[in-house]
Amino acid sequence: MVKVTRQYRFSASHRLHSPQLSDDENRQVYGKCNNPYGHGHDYVVQVQVSGPVDEDTGLALPVEVLDGLMERLVLRDVANGNLNDLPAFAEVVPTTEMLAIEVDRRLRARWSAVFPETWPQLDGVRILETKRNVFETIGARI
Ligand code: NI
Repeated sequence: MVKVTRQYRFSASHRLHSPQLSDDENRQVYGKCNNPYGHGHDYVVQVQVSGPVDEDTGLALPVEVLDGLMERLVLRDVANGNLNDLPAFAEVVPTTEMLAIEVDRRLRARWSAVFPETWPQLDGVRILETKRNVFETIGARI
C-alpha cells in the first residue's frame, strides 16, 4: 500500500462573519478576519489517497484522473473568487476548516463514479491556509 498526496493551489478571498453572533462577538472570534472588506489567501490543497500499487502500471493513483476531478468539482468553482459568494457558504462561515470539509465532501460525492474499484481510497483533504494554519479532514463528518 502506498499513500499518495497530490497538491493543488488556488487563490480566493473570504470574510469570516457568523450571523449567529453579534458584531462584537464576530470581531472577538475572528479578529482581523472579520474585516468587512475580506482578505485573500493562496490556498494549498493536498488530496490524500491510498491504495495498492497496480502491477502493470506501478501506480497507486492515476493522478490525471484526480486532477480532472479536482478541476471539475473544486478548482474552477473556488479559484479567484470570493468564497462567501458560493452557495456552499451561503449559510456556512467559509473558514478553512469548513473549506476542507466542503472539498472532502465534493470529492467523496463523486469518488465511486470515477474510481469504481475498492482502491484508491480517499483518505482526506489538507488545506494549508497560511504558514501557521493547516487544516485536515478526519473522515467525512464535521
Ligand atoms: Ni482568512
